[in-house]
Amino acid sequence: MKFKKKILCIGAGYVGAPSNVMIACKCPDYKVTVVDINPQRIDAWNSDSLPVYEPGLDEIVKKTRGKNLFFSTDIDNQIKENDIIFVCVNTPTKTFGTGAGMAADLQYWEKTARQILENSKSSKIVIEKSTLPIKTALAMERILASGKGDITFDVLSNPEFMAEGTAIHDLENPDRVLIGSRETPNGLAARAQLVEIYSRWVSPEKIITSNIWSAELSKLVANAFLAQRVSSINSISALCEKADADISEVARAVGMDSRIGSKFLKAGIGFGGSCFKKDILNLVYLCHFYGLPQVAAYWESVVKINEYQQERFITNILQSMFNTLAGKKICILGFAFKADTGDTRESPAINITRMLLAEHAEVVISDPKALGNAAVDLAHDEGKISYIEDPYQATAGCHALAIMTDWDLYRNLDYRKIYKSMIKPAFIFDGRNIIDQHKCFEIGFNVFPIGKPALTRL
Ligand code: NAD
Ligand code: UGA
Repeated sequence: MKFKKKILCIGAGYVGAPSNVMIACKCPDYKVTVVDINPQRIDAWNSDSLPVYEPGLDEIVKKTRGKNLFFSTDIDNQIKENDIIFVCVNTPTKTFGTGAGMAADLQYWEKTARQILENSKSSKIVIEKSTLPIKTALAMERILASGKGDITFDVLSNPEFMAEGTAIHDLENPDRVLIGSRETPNGLAARAQLVEIYSRWVSPEKIITSNIWSAELSKLVANAFLAQRVSSINSISALCEKADADISEVARAVGMDSRIGSKFLKAGIGFGGSCFKKDILNLVYLCHFYGLPQVAAYWESVVKINEYQQERFITNILQSMFNTLAGKKICILGFAFKADTGDTRESPAINITRMLLAEHAEVVISDPKALGNAAVDLAHDEGKISYIEDPYQATAGCHALAIMTDWDLYRNLDYRKIYKSMIKPAFIFDGRNIIDQHKCFEIGFNVFPIGKPALTRL
């Protein structure tokens, strides 16, 4: 079959693969190839057991793979063959040198830019989909312009706003698609090509265009605003616990103001995931770089409140369990950073588990999708850790259970049965406020919610 357009995605991770799977699904006349340096990842994308758990993803991959969707490790040849290239490689926080712990580590991204330059025999549109610091497109343009010959590269910024766990829904029905370009004739023509791709399934008023730096910055700012709401409500949850108010009632009352809105006001053990902390620290670094220490301090406080929330949670466990956890068995219910994903990157459960191990507690970890990643995350931690998927087996014989992930599964467990199998007095620390706390108290548990008075007989 002759395809109308050929699209390449470099980076087959949580964002590159699903976003390009969606293009393949919506544009059957386009050939979409996703490449990665990691051969195991590509093998998994070509198998029946995909490397990413995402509701609805399996079905779309099955429908398109081998028809107009392909996964490959042959990056060099694919660069030659494709004219539109999405760059979706990882951009983690730098762990060394200048900006360590804050700035984005751009080594994977720069390697890709050089690889595109080396292998291109025709002009290309190169699209930043990874989240990058402002002005990265300029660096990308400079690298790509450093080659000899007369081929040209147009760099666009098309940040991705999908969230894990709802990626397929978000990709299919985005709030908006943002495309930043240079305002030159070539830049505008490249932009028009990308607009055409999204127009296949996204309505025109939701496809917005902007200058390239605004697009790069908007992505960091959107994540910073979302995380800020979580830290704002979490900071108030601490006050509620002291002052006998109920954070769910406060969030409801505040969120019904249409100027504020009700989303992202769920108090919990703090935000996790690979991006919020990374992107805010990136923003903080940029503010310092541009000589704006007050702005940097404002955004850094969002991360500090997130750390404080986790420390508070552990202090609460320790104090309510008679100031000693040594030798006590505690079940972590949920290890993923949120429901409906197996991703554990920056999951609060990692820190909470480590803090429990530091107190010499024995930790049992349970999760329907994230046990494999949990075992990798904790591979080098010392202490007694076990991994049990079944929540009833996992909680049996424990002194306490701590709910870390808002999996629906945990809302309606048979807590009476769980109570019977636990050591008394039995404790629940509901880090997500998802269970029927009063019912669990009636069953006999001592219940410690977030941002609400504890229900305890002790
Ligand atoms: P990821 O680590 O899951 O995937 C990145 C992939 O890129 C990896 O498989 C890695 O092997 C591959 N890679 C690295 N260097 C490469 C190279 N030179 N050539 C080919 N492949 C290479 O990361 P992710 O979660 O998909 O995030 C990617 C980017 O998208 C980040 O900048 C992130 O901030 C952004 N983002 C992520 C999400 C999300 O939900 N995870 C949402 C929006 C934006
Ligand atoms: C987030 C953004 O929502 C996406 O728009 C963005 O594209 C993505 O980051 C990214 O750049 O990687 P994601 O991290 O997948 O998506 O998931 P979210 O739903 O935003 O949740 C992030 C964390 O905040 C989770 O740990 C979640 O449990 C927590 N959260 C969220 C709360 O504690 N309370 C809330 O009310 C909402």
